[in-house]
Amino acid sequence: MKTPHLVALAAAALCAGTAHAQDAGQLNVICSVQAEWCNMIQTVFAKTTGIKVNMSLKGSGEALAQLVAEKANPKTDVWFGGTGDPHLQAAEMGLSIEHKSPTLPQLFPWAQAQAAQSGYKTVGIYSGPLGFGYNPELLAKKKLAVPKSWADLLKPEYKGEIQVANPASSGTAYTMVATLVQLMGEDKAFEYMKGLHKNVSQYTRSGTGPIKAVARGETAVSISFVHDGPGEKMQGFPVETITPSEGTGAEIGSMSIIKGARNLEQAKKFYEWALTPQAQQFGAAAKQFQLPSNKATPIDPRVPDFKSIKFINYDYAKYGASAERKRLIAKWEKDVNSLPR
Ligand code: G6P
Repeated sequence: MKTPHLVALAAAALCAGTAHAQDAGQLNVICSVQAEWCNMIQTVFAKTTGIKVNMSLKGSGEALAQLVAEKANPKTDVWFGGTGDPHLQAAEMGLSIEHKSPTLPQLFPWAQAQAAQSGYKTVGIYSGPLGFGYNPELLAKKKLAVPKSWADLLKPEYKGEIQVANPASSGTAYTMVATLVQLMGEDKAFEYMKGLHKNVSQYTRSGTGPIKAVARGETAVSISFVHDGPGEKMQGFPVETITPSEGTGAEIGSMSIIKGARNLEQAKKFYEWALTPQAQQFGAAAKQFQLPSNKATPIDPRVPDFKSIKFINYDYAKYGASAERKRLIAKWEKDVNSLPR
């Protein structure tokens, strides 16, 4: 009599276990940081919650384009990472939902401000300064100086030596456009970008493409987030970073829950988890050195020292507004990218 009872219990436990795993469900995430970090959170979140995570890796601009395309029938639950401007645009376009996390007071003021100005439809998860990447060995070989300012990048000796991404697909490159417009005024900024165009060998799709090319000796200089430098260096590549003397902008990497998410409960769980210091440590663990938004997350020594950088007072609301972002990108395509080199 005993045996069948035990067998039934074991079977019931097994069923419950299976049912539990099934109940935990799944989650569809668009991830706009680099692959190693995306893969790490996918694995750890699945292990700790039983929720299966389907990840799709996309640059910030491309992610927004996908969310617009699937608006009537959303396939995405959470958009994790990428620059904040397109997250603000998504909020304005009604692509994301309001979610006021109880963790908000534990975040740095810039991350809370990002949430507040979107009506709590997005939140800051990290921040990082825009600057230049350079390959000191290649510069020495070509007898070129390290560029120290935006003005330096226009010098004829850098012709064909600079890479930057395309602002339509890349949030990094849009941050550059918005930074220059705020630093110089729109007319001068576009004159500047036309001059820069002559020295740019390639506009890449992804924001990290240029610094990877610098690291591998394919180009001498990139316009990049400076926190993307140390990860390349850790792989043994000769790459350094610098921020321009005139001043620069910073991104507020963000996260949003998508309107119409089919896995809303799981999405909220992921969102709350991603704001914890435990989860935010996976950035540095995956060799990505943005400043995490939770004040209690330990700061890796390779995270850029914000206090030593000259920043502009970046107007996130203005440059994250849908009409402004679209207008500036279209203007860049027409007035800059279409020019011969
Ligand atoms: C890298 C950076 C992130 C940034 C992202 C933007 O992953 O480490 O801080 O948010 O690029 O990517 P994108 O391709 O849109 O420029």
